[in-house]
Amino acid sequence: MKLEIDQDRLLAELETLATFSDAEPPAVTRVVFTPTDQKARAWLIARCEGAGLKVRQDPIGNIFARWNGADPEAPVVGTGSHIDAIPNAGKYDGVVGVLGGLAAIRALRRAGFQPRNSVELLVFATEEPTRFGVGCLGSRLLSGSLLPDAASQLRDSHGESVDEVRKKAGLSGKLEDVKLSSGYYKAFVELHIEQGPLLERAQTSLGIVMRIAAPASLRISIEGAGGHAGGVLMPDRKDALCAAAELILAIENAARSTGAVDTVATVGVCEVFPGAVNSIPSRVHLTVDLRDTDLARRDKLMQTINRTVQSLSTKRQVSICQELLNADAPADCAPEVRAALSDSCREHGFQFLEMISRAYHDSLFISRIAPAGMLFIPCRNGYSHRPDEFASPEDIARGTLILAESLARLSA
Ligand code: GLV
Ligand code: MN
Ligand code: MN
Repeated sequence: MKLEIDQDRLLAELETLATFSDAEPPAVTRVVFTPTDQKARAWLIARCEGAGLKVRQDPIGNIFARWNGADPEAPVVGTGSHIDAIPNAGKYDGVVGVLGGLAAIRALRRAGFQPRNSVELLVFATEEPTRFGVGCLGSRLLSGSLLPDAASQLRDSHGESVDEVRKKAGLSGKLEDVKLSSGYYKAFVELHIEQGPLLERAQTSLGIVMRIAAPASLRISIEGAGGHAGGVLMPDRKDALCAAAELILAIENAARSTGAVDTVATVGVCEVFPGAVNSIPSRVHLTVDLRDTDLARRDKLMQTINRTVQSLSTKRQVSICQELLNADAPADCAPEVRAALSDSCREHGFQFLEMISRAYHDSLFISRIAPAGMLFIPCRNGYSHRPDEFASPEDIARGTLILAESLARLSA
């Protein structure tokens, strides 16, 4: 079989998808189910249908585009990723796995390959936590990792529930019906940019993921006492922002103190009320994102943060509420998918690195119900979640070729 990736078409599609954005180029902002995201989804569905795939959407908006195999009843070989993008993002995160997956399927069809198992492109809905606070909603529901009731109660910053938003987006049906039956997948492979610098540093253009780190996130609200910036003397203050500042540094210190490079902690949101120059901050909302490859160490970090919250609350006389948004276990990638990827690399004479994914991905949840694996390509300087995110055309095409070869091996 002679597999050829149509690199020009793939790159042109990548550029076109980046134009569906609510930010000035080169930045991309595509928050799930906004009018812009809806247009992007419609464009993508048309591309899938144009490739001869049969498209369906489930009630949360996961898009499935199927190429029927010789045995349509046999478990499916899946590939895919997401197209939603955080505010001020780049154009490659998720998109490479979606358009690369489509390009891989087109290449297999052009080469005359006939799969035994159906091959299906999956565009996961709402991978990014931007809108509803929790990432990977689509794959959490597909894998039964999140109960439909809990999902439908999530709200965006305008107070709109998942159910209201998805219905406005034209998605009907019950969230109960999103979960896939056990045995749906024979295997699942996700192509993605690394979102870190290791491949580039090792001058290696392919990475096979062994394990995906364990993410957790919290929302913290600090309630102090506001007042006049001139009138309230320092001994009488209960400044919520000063308490938040102390807490943020304590979280950073706790993550640095585990002694493991794999422990990371980020406070990415800090909202201050009332936010006026001459008013003492009365309330602060923070989000905390914690990750580690080791579940016990990640959980210990959560306990440390919890103790700090208690002591800070007493010391600064503020009340602090914590809401745990998610605390997920890490996942090991499946040996059979890793083998398909490494055999494909060898077949084409490409070196690869075995690595950890420190970012989370929908494959973390798909791995709960199917043998799943991931293939990484480098991104310049390891930059991601920023407008100057960049993956080279050669790396994108190489990753797509290895994806196509692996899909062939898994579905033959
Ligand atoms: C995914 O976007 C992540 O935050 O790891
Ligand atoms: Mn992302
Ligand atoms: Mn991603």
